[in-house]
Amino acid sequence: MTLYAGLMSGTSMDGVDAVLLQVTAAGCQVVGATHVDYDAGLTQRLRSAVANPVQAGLDELGQLDCLVAEAFAQATQALLRLTATDAAAVRAIGSHGQTLLHRPRSLPRFTLQIGDPNLIAEQTGIDVVADFRRRDLAAGGEAAPLVPAFHAAVLGHPGEARVVVNIGGIANITVLAADGAVTGFDTGPGNCLMDLWIQSLGPQAFDRDGALAASGRVDAALLQHLLAEPYLSRPAPKSTGRELFNSLWLQAALAGRALGAADVQATLCEFTAVSIARAISDLAAVQPARVLVCGGGVLNGQLLRRLAAQLPGVAVESTAAYGIDPLHVEGAAFAWLAHRHIERLAGNLPAVTGARGPRVLGALYPGLVTSL
Ligand SMILES: Nc1ncnc2c1ncn2[C@@H]1O[C@H](COP(=O)(O)OP(=O)(O)O)[C@@H](O)[C@H]1O
Ligand SMILES: [Mg+2]
Repeated sequence: MTLYAGLMSGTSMDGVDAVLLQVTAAGCQVVGATHVDYDAGLTQRLRSAVANPVQAGLDELGQLDCLVAEAFAQATQALLRLTATDAAAVRAIGSHGQTLLHRPRSLPRFTLQIGDPNLIAEQTGIDVVADFRRRDLAAGGEAAPLVPAFHAAVLGHPGEARVVVNIGGIANITVLAADGAVTGFDTGPGNCLMDLWIQSLGPQAFDRDGALAASGRVDAALLQHLLAEPYLSRPAPKSTGRELFNSLWLQAALAGRALGAADVQATLCEFTAVSIARAISDLAAVQPARVLVCGGGVLNGQLLRRLAAQLPGVAVESTAAYGIDPLHVEGAAFAWLAHRHIERLAGNLPAVTGARGPRVLGALYPGLVTSL
């Protein structure tokens, strides 16, 4: 039995998910997990760096790299305390870091995650595997999504076609065919547009349980406009982020429309549900019996109801019913990817990312030396 810790902060920039995963020959199991919010100032600085990268400048980038690492190290300490685990018992940390920019289609192509792994290794004393995305990109892949291999390992079921939907800031699907084949891609927005809208109205960070969305009416004209976004009809492999689905994109879509706040939220929720559902129903090869949902979007009841309504005849369920808390899946995936690195096993799936081949992902930052 070996323990790995996974650290993840996604496009929502809401804070760090830290998950302790036990890996055995038979499979893996979450031992414990915690979430540590970024302090409000850090979230603000990260969001404005992403919105205005040129204005933010290199000093800000350097500082954010350290501040994110400190938040990740603190989340690790909180995880170890919570699970009463000694640092020496953890084989390695898999740290995703915080994505600032993801441009797999610019020239040159790049993806940028920050959160200096040297600081995490120094402050925890544990080996850190980090920088998971760039090797896949170097091999011609999209560098995202990286969670499908883990989804296949823990949620695949021979003989039954399943789709796993991770609804973070962005939504991505993993398609698990009955014969074991795995594909997947980012479908488009997850919670990000609903978050942006409610944040523009006041102090709320997100629409709790989708209450505002549930109180409004879907505007058909706005929905049609949103569904015309070219990303949605682009063939896979594909990945996206805040570079596309940001406040400028939302402002442009809303320009010249006089809609009530709740109706906008209802329409953004419907758009999110329809874009995910279409990505699933358009799958040529696989029509799943079951859709398993994870990520913070699981807590948005209205979004889940609208998603289920778009997928008649398909069981839409939380991954909780299949042995893993929906809020732990992504963090656990990066713990698992650290295990793959340590064992020199591939972490990417070329059928998902479009990379030229399977690759060992990430680089190792050693923890404290135990003997001279
Ligand atoms: N109680 C809730 N009701 C509705 N939405 C929620 C709730 N809790 C979290 N969320 C949504 O989940 C998002 C965070 O999900 P997460 O999976 O952590 O995304 P990411 O991986 O992008 O950080 C929040 O931004 C919010 O939109
Ligand atoms: Mg998050």
